Parts: sequence; structure tokens; C-alpha cells
Amino acid sequence: MTSMPFADPIYVTRPFLPPLQQFAEGLSGIWESRQLTNNGPVLKRFRSSLSLYLQTENVALFNNGTQALQIGLQTMKVAGEVITTPFTFVATTHALYWNKIRPVFVDIEPDYYTLDPEKVEAAITPFTTAILAVHVYGHPCRLEAVEDVARRHGLRLIYDAAHAFGVTVNETSIPRYGDSSMFSFHATKLLHSLEGGALTFADPALKVQVDLLKNFGFKKEMGTATAPRFTPPSAGNLRRWNVLARTRWRNSRTRMPLHTF
Ligand SMILES: Cc1ncc(COP(=O)(O)O)c(C=O)c1O
Repeated sequence: MTSMPFADPIYVTRPFLPPLQQFAEGLSGIWESRQLTNNGPVLKRFRSSLSLYLQTENVALFNNGTQALQIGLQTMKVAGEVITTPFTFVATTHALYWNKIRPVFVDIEPDYYTLDPEKVEAAITPFTTAILAVHVYGHPCRLEAVEDVARRHGLRLIYDAAHAFGVTVNETSIPRYGDSSMFSFHATKLLHSLEGGALTFADPALKVQVDLLKNFGFKKEMGTATAPRFTPPSAGNLRRWNVLARTRWRNSRTRMPLHTF
């Protein structure tokens, strides 16, 4: 039997936690503000720190990384086929599946287990709209080669950077590559918020769009006691909503299953 190189076992997915006392002190400000949701001051501070650290202005925060990816794909109107990797956590594919996008898997490179750019190029069809590449275990994809393929074929380039928080290439922070990058702040990640996720965008207009999608279409983030978020509908509007709801229900019953794509 080989001896263990460390005195104690090292659990790679065990979360880092601050001293409980310190965490409780951090909570007291939230208790005083009584603002637990809707873009509160702690969230705003977290977002600006991330912006600085990740060297990107356009950061949107989410409940988790999967949701970030799902809503990001909707924001960028990605559809049809997306070329991606099978060597990832299943959530990467789920985000495509939930958007009724067909994942097209191509093989990985032997050294770092990231998407092989030559194989990506060979898999492009007239239905391909984007490449969803994954940085694996902190190792970035071959960024320049993947970007070159995306640019030459006019494809969106999205990175699942759940494993790559803090990674830089040529002194450039990883989310500065591609159209968008997703980070996970799940408890097993290097930087975590128990659960959480973020999406970064190269295009500031996409950040505005994703904030609207996140916030039920409301432009103002916060409602107050004197500013109701809901205006009672007129009879005409109610009728229109009913028609819309009935149409959606009918469409949902006739939607094609994914395997018929
Ligand atoms: C590569 C990868 N993509 C996506 C996810 C999903 O992130 P989350 O758990 O924050 O939804 C994870 C991890 O948990 C992951 O490892």
C-alpha cells in the first residue's frame, strides 16, 4: 500500500468557508437594510468587485451557473445546432436542451481535455449558430484557434468557464475572450457564494437585455412600498392576455420533441 503524501486527506470539492463569526457580521448589514432580493447593496458590491477582478464591465448575476447559461443562450437568440463538448458537467448540455437547441458533440484534445478546434470546424452545418466551449479544470480552451473558427463562420462563441474563475491568458482575464462566459459560484467552486453564477458579455447591449429577461421585463430593479410594480389590467388587456395564454398552452402541447430535430 502506498503511503499518503499529506498528513490529512484533501477533499477537492469541500467548500472554503470563512469563520462563522465573520459571516454573521456580514449578515448584520443585510438584516438592517431588510433588502434580501432585487439587486440589493451587497449584490451590487459583489458585482462591481467581480467586474474589476474579471476586467469586464458587463457582468450579470444569477442563482446558479446553469441558469446563467440558459438565459444567456436566450439573450443571444442562439437556436438550431450548437457545437459543444461531451467532456463537461452535464449542466452545459442541459442549458442547450432547455432552449430546444441541438447539441453537436465533437471530440476533445488529449492534453487538457478541451474542445478540439479542428474538429469543431468539421462539424459546422448550415444550422450551426454557436460554439459552446468549456474550460476544463481551470485549463482554457485553445482560445485563438476556437475564435478563429467562430469568426470565419460568423458563429457566436460562448464559454462555460465554471471551472476557470481567475484564469488569465496573456495577462488577459478569461471572460474577455468570446461573446460571453459563464461562471459558477456553486459551493464546490474555488470562489463560491453557496449557490450562484455569473454571465459576462463583450457587448453591453446584451447585458441590458439579460437584465430585462431576469427581471420580468421591468426596467427599474426595485419596487418600493409607494411604487407598486403591478398595474391592474384593463378589460381589453385581460382579453388579450387570455388569448395569449391559450395560444401558449396550445403551442406547448404541439411542440416537437427534441429528438425530432
Ligand atoms: C463545467 C460546468 N458547467 C456548469 C456547471 C453548473 O453550474 P451550477 O452548479 O452553478 O449551476 C458546473 C458545475 O457545477 C460545471 O462544472
